[in-house]
Amino acid sequence: MKLSKFLNLMLLEMCIFHHYLTCINKSKESNFTGIMGDYSITVEHDLLGPLERINNPHEVLRQSIAKLKQNQWESSTEAILDIIQISRYYPEMLDPNMSLINRSLCSLMRNTRPHIVRTASKVAMELFETIKCTQRPEFDELVAILLQKTAHMNKSVRHDVNKALDTMIVHIPVSHCTRAITSAAGHKNPLVRSTVSRLLITIVELIGVDSFFLSLHLKDTRRKIFVVLAKFIIDGNYETRNNAKTLIKLLMAHEDFETFFNQDVDCKLLDKIDKQIINLKYST
Ligand SMILES: *[C@@H]1O[C@H](CO)[C@@H](O)[C@H](O)[C@H]1NC(C)=O
Ligand SMILES: *[C@@H]1O[C@H](CO)[C@@H](O)[C@H](O)[C@H]1NC(C)=O
Ligand SMILES: *[C@@H]1O[C@H](CO)[C@@H](O)[C@H](O)[C@H]1NC(C)=O
Ligand SMILES: *[C@@H]1O[C@H](CO)[C@@H](O)[C@H](O)[C@H]1NC(C)=O
Ligand SMILES: *[C@@H]1O[C@H](CO)[C@@H](O)[C@H](O)[C@H]1NC(C)=O
Repeated sequence: MKLSKFLNLMLLEMCIFHHYLTCINKSKESNFTGIMGDYSITVEHDLLGPLERINNPHEVLRQSIAKLKQNQWESSTEAILDIIQISRYYPEMLDPNMSLINRSLCSLMRNTRPHIVRTASKVAMELFETIKCTQRPEFDELVAILLQKTAHMNKSVRHDVNKALDTMIVHIPVSHCTRAITSAAGHKNPLVRSTVSRLLITIVELIGVDSFFLSLHLKDTRRKIFVVLAKFIIDGNYETRNNAKTLIKLLMAHEDFETFFNQDVDCKLLDKIDKQIINLKYST
């Protein structure tokens, strides 16, 4: 029993490593201009075990749910890996149990063992792609924990949670992503705020500057992003500040910038950042 568990963990580490290599390779082909980590946004299916069609998904799901209910990290990890296999072929089967899956995933994310957090991030990443579950509060809670873990002391964990967040942005509608991400803009850890600022650039790159200003259905998203940018431009953290400047500079090129920015950000804050905005306007 102990040995098989150990072997499973070894296998998992190997998969993660292989995945990492593949990612480094893929990044060279990527044409994506947003700020990403040192990997591409392409999601491969080679990480959490091979892509195998499960013969009896109903039975496997039943057993997995029973394991999740035990609320132990070992059994939950086993179950969640089976659930990933199910999600690849029968995502709709998981719908009635998503709230239990959510709770289990959130609690694995909070585990103190780095490899468990990493597995949970990989699972979250795949679920963003396969299930695209944006149901609240599950989604926001999960995103909040992923963001929190971008300040984890283990570099591999930081890598994996950042990757999960990038995947989320590609697969989940921007309005949901923006809502969940901007909620963490006031986080006390500078690494988390810096991640938020990085992700905002990616979101705007994906939307495109013209759509950012012109799409009526993005009105609320635009407002949320402007408000956070206005705060970030005077943030105490260099990277956060710098990302905010980069993004504002990009958006400033649009003729509607001033109108919308002044309309969305409150006057007090506008006064406070007046100097920074003017400097940016005339900087090259
Ligand atoms: C990286 O790409 C090269 C060619 O593009 C390929 O030969 C090599 O096997 C790839 N490495 C990995 C780890 O996928
Ligand atoms: C990459 O970007 C260039 C210029 O924007 C474009 O012409 C090219 O088709 C893109 N390539 C891919 C693979 O998307
Ligand atoms: C899981 O879903 C099934 C229906 O497919 C339902 O009968 C069962 O109560 C659900 N269990 C939990 C814990 O959500
Ligand atoms: C999802 O999980 C989180 C963390 O355990 C919890 O706070 C939240 O209420 C859960 N959502 C549902 C609908 O169970
Ligand atoms: C980070 O976590 C991995 C497990 O995924 C572990 O092997 C490694 O030793 C950890 N690194 C540090 C610096 O703790």
